Amino acid sequence: MRLSATILLLPAAALLCGLTLGRVVKVPTGPLYRVVKTPVSIPCNVSDYQGPSEQNFDWFVYRNGGLLKVISTLEPEFSDAEYKDKVAAGDIWVERLDDSSVELRFKSVKFEDEGKYQCQTPSTDANSNGNYEVSVSLKVIPDKLAVLPVKSSSLTNTNHTEGTPMEMQCFASTSTSSTVSTHLSVTWQLTKNGGGPEDILSFSADDQLLPGSSYTNRYRHGDVRMGLEGNGIFRLVIDHLQLEDSGVYSCVAAEWVKEDGFNWKKLHEKKATIKTIEVQPLAQTLKVSASGGILTLNKGDEIDLVCSVTGTDDFSVEVGWYFSTSLPTDTQSSKLLVHMNLAAIVNNSDFVTLNRISSSEYRLKVQQVDEADSGYYYCAASVWVPHTNGLKRNAAAKTSDPLHVTVTLLDPTYTIHSSSSKMPDSSGEPVELECEVLDLYNADEAKLTVAWYFKPTGSDGVAGESRPIAEMDQDWTLKLNPDYNERAQKGEITFTKPRPHTFKFQMQYASVSDRGEYFCNISAWIKQRGNTWMKKQEILSSAVVMFWKTEDPGLSVMATEEKRAAVMGTTFEMMCSVSAEHVAVPYYSVVVAMNEPAIIGTQGSKRLISLTRESVVNLEQWDTKDRPEDVVLEKVSHQEFRFRLYRAQFSDQGSYYCLVQAWVQDHNGRWAEAVSNDSNPIAVAFTTTAPRFNVTLESERPHVHQGETLEMCCIVDLLEIPNTTDVLYEVEWYFQGIHFNATLSPLVSVDRGSVVTYQEDFATRGISVERVSRHGFRLRVHCADRGFAGDYFCKVTPWIKYQTEKWDQIPPEESAHLSVRIDISVLDSFKMPLLYGVVSALLVGILACTIGYCAFPKPPRGRSVPLDERRGLLHKCLS
Ligand SMILES: *[C@@H]1O[C@H](CO)[C@@H](O)[C@H](O)[C@H]1NC(C)=O
Ligand SMILES: *[C@@H]1O[C@H](CO)[C@@H](O)[C@H](O)[C@H]1NC(C)=O
Ligand SMILES: *[C@@H]1O[C@H](CO)[C@@H](O)[C@H](O)[C@H]1NC(C)=O
Ligand SMILES: *[C@@H]1O[C@H](CO)[C@@H](O)[C@H](O)[C@H]1NC(C)=O
Ligand SMILES: *[C@@H]1O[C@H](CO)[C@@H](O)[C@H](O)[C@H]1NC(C)=O
Ligand SMILES: *[C@@H]1O[C@H](CO)[C@@H](O)[C@H](O)[C@H]1NC(C)=O
Repeated sequence: MRLSATILLLPAAALLCGLTLGRVVKVPTGPLYRVVKTPVSIPCNVSDYQGPSEQNFDWFVYRNGGLLKVISTLEPEFSDAEYKDKVAAGDIWVERLDDSSVELRFKSVKFEDEGKYQCQTPSTDANSNGNYEVSVSLKVIPDKLAVLPVKSSSLTNTNHTEGTPMEMQCFASTSTSSTVSTHLSVTWQLTKNGGGPEDILSFSADDQLLPGSSYTNRYRHGDVRMGLEGNGIFRLVIDHLQLEDSGVYSCVAAEWVKEDGFNWKKLHEKKATIKTIEVQPLAQTLKVSASGGILTLNKGDEIDLVCSVTGTDDFSVEVGWYFSTSLPTDTQSSKLLVHMNLAAIVNNSDFVTLNRISSSEYRLKVQQVDEADSGYYYCAASVWVPHTNGLKRNAAAKTSDPLHVTVTLLDPTYTIHSSSSKMPDSSGEPVELECEVLDLYNADEAKLTVAWYFKPTGSDGVAGESRPIAEMDQDWTLKLNPDYNERAQKGEITFTKPRPHTFKFQMQYASVSDRGEYFCNISAWIKQRGNTWMKKQEILSSAVVMFWKTEDPGLSVMATEEKRAAVMGTTFEMMCSVSAEHVAVPYYSVVVAMNEPAIIGTQGSKRLISLTRESVVNLEQWDTKDRPEDVVLEKVSHQEFRFRLYRAQFSDQGSYYCLVQAWVQDHNGRWAEAVSNDSNPIAVAFTTTAPRFNVTLESERPHVHQGETLEMCCIVDLLEIPNTTDVLYEVEWYFQGIHFNATLSPLVSVDRGSVVTYQEDFATRGISVERVSRHGFRLRVHCADRGFAGDYFCKVTPWIKYQTEKWDQIPPEESAHLSVRIDISVLDSFKMPLLYGVVSALLVGILACTIGYCAFPKPPRGRSVPLDERRGLLHKCLS
């Protein structure tokens, strides 16, 4: 297009050069395209003229082959009728620019104004030379220019943070008419609060992008751009909003036409408001805060704090952690601990590190702290946004509130988890218990010790006293409860530390008595000055319960009579069968006991013979000297025991039973009685009853004087035994003095072979015993003193030779008691030294009278024997 304009211009230029000899009137070459309803002016000037400097101009228009007068600078009434009104209404006028140039102006051009306009200058020249009029065509074209905002949902937000991108679109178009091609320009403008519109960026009619004067720098760095989408869409893009970008954005579209072949003429323009933008400063959105879990730390621990930086909109952030011993006033007075620059490079040291742990969090760690690390910690963050020159700009900076961190020496803290990895459910099984120390803090310097405790639970479920099993002292020496010594020596119980902070207690075999609750007490010791250890903490674990139900052991003992002893001299045989329940491996010990017929219950029972667990036989109270072999107890099988009594005697009559104990051996070889029980009794009773007999103790003179001989006779009266039967007697005398607390004591005895045995006290005191008849035994106390006053009785055990050749014992009988009185004779009183005198002699006489002579004789205690009968007996004794 430009090329064709140039070609057209060449002959015109040549023409002008040839006509420079006289007056020259000029109008634009035209044709002039103007948009309807816009103001239009057509310039006209004159040069190289003579005469007055102020020239006049007449304007004509070609209509229907002739010229119509439009307006003149000289004549007010110049206009033809058609233009009179328009001129009068001010729609058309001539504007004088200077002496030699004017403009024909249309207030708002109409389509009917289109036409060829001629500018004439009336001659003022001396001779008419040059050209005096010149014409130009005016073409009125329709208005097709449009400009509109483009609404887009993503663009509705009017609040933008500093540094963030922003874009907006506008639609602008015009349509080229058939006669001329017009061009469109689009300009983005910003109207700030209280200011005029400012060009940001224009897309010119000749397809160039031109930044506004204050945007050249940003345009050059690509921060401000215009996007041409086609279809009339013009996009404004700002990559990094600045605070001064707030305001009202509008889009100005203009229509242009090229005149004279190269000059751009703006025909008209239209403006649309697109959007109002509010740019939030980052300083307003940026938030910096510091937080930390534990702010009171033990020496040697680690400081762990987090700096949270928000409201940065993903811009580069620079973060630093600061420390100050006093409450900080500014970063100058503080020490920068660690810093992360915009490139995320951190100047970590061995002990102080900074890590970005999330998009907004920066963690500070300070290791192995000591008291000097106590103080205030805070972080500071700066946000940098991209700047026009490709550099970054510090848009905002803030610091957090300080956190106060205290470093001290803290007591160790921990919890204990007690558990069992092996738990027996019957005796003999192994046990494994563990105490694990968890959540251990402040214990780097501490030493842990353990103590194990046990609280037994009985079979009835009742808990006993808790007692230690083993305790570790601060020297890590284990002190064992002596109860466990044996098992520990055998290696049956062990204490180990399988892992750091875990203590283990094992028992190879659990026994019933091990049932109960187990605890451990874990202590933490801290080293003091001078290498001593101090217990700083002591925690008791929860109990681990070890229990299994045990059936109560049971034992039944059944006695059966194998051989019955119906008559004296025969053999009695009894079998005791034992069966134990809920006793692992029972061993039995057996005792055979006998109750005499008169005695009920086991209270006064006599243990005859026993068999130990190891089958050792012992005679117990089988004291019959002559018959050691008459009792036998033997083990027939593991559960059967036989008892034999040979040559049963009358005195053997009674009920016999077995007393059995079941024993178990634990894993240490210790014996314990599991259970014991008695059998049913088996009676030994002869069909013939023992021969009855009476024993009588008699004295002709139960009252003697001191120094006299006291005599008494023990007489046996065998009633039911033929007088041909061989009889032997065992006779014993008993005496009980008259003292207040005198005890019954044996005096003297005569055995079957007539061997006399004196009781020690009385052997030398003038006592003699003799058999005075077949059934009579006499006791004599020679020269009796008052010590012999008291009660006497005798006990007789007859031995009878029946059919057999053996002597059989008959249960003994006792006589009634005989009271004996020893008096002091009057004669004796006279023998007393004279010193006593008559008074004392008299006194003794009266006393003797009172206690003996003057009173009626007191009948003997017990059964009273008629006088006649007594005489007869005495006769028997002496005969
Ligand atoms: C006279 O008018 C022509 C055509 O409009 C123009 O090119 C020229 O510059 C004008 N001269 C002066 C002195 O105004
Ligand atoms: C075990 O620890 C506790 C503290 O938890 C303490 O009171 C107690 O004396 C310690 N010893 C025993 C036998 O419980
Ligand atoms: C002892 O024996 C009796 C009678 O047989 C029985 O009832 C009782 O249960 C036994 N005792 C034990 C502990 O077995
Ligand atoms: C022996 O005692 C019985 C009963 O106890 C009696 O009946 C009998 O008369 C007594 N005989 C003599 C000789 O005392
Ligand atoms: C035994 O008693 C009978 C009468 O009961 C008598 O005849 C006989 O002589 C007595 N024998 C002796 C040895 O005493
Ligand atoms: C009585 O018994 C007490 C103590 O048992 C003893 O001291 C005292 O001598 C006894 N009296 C006589 C008279 O034996």
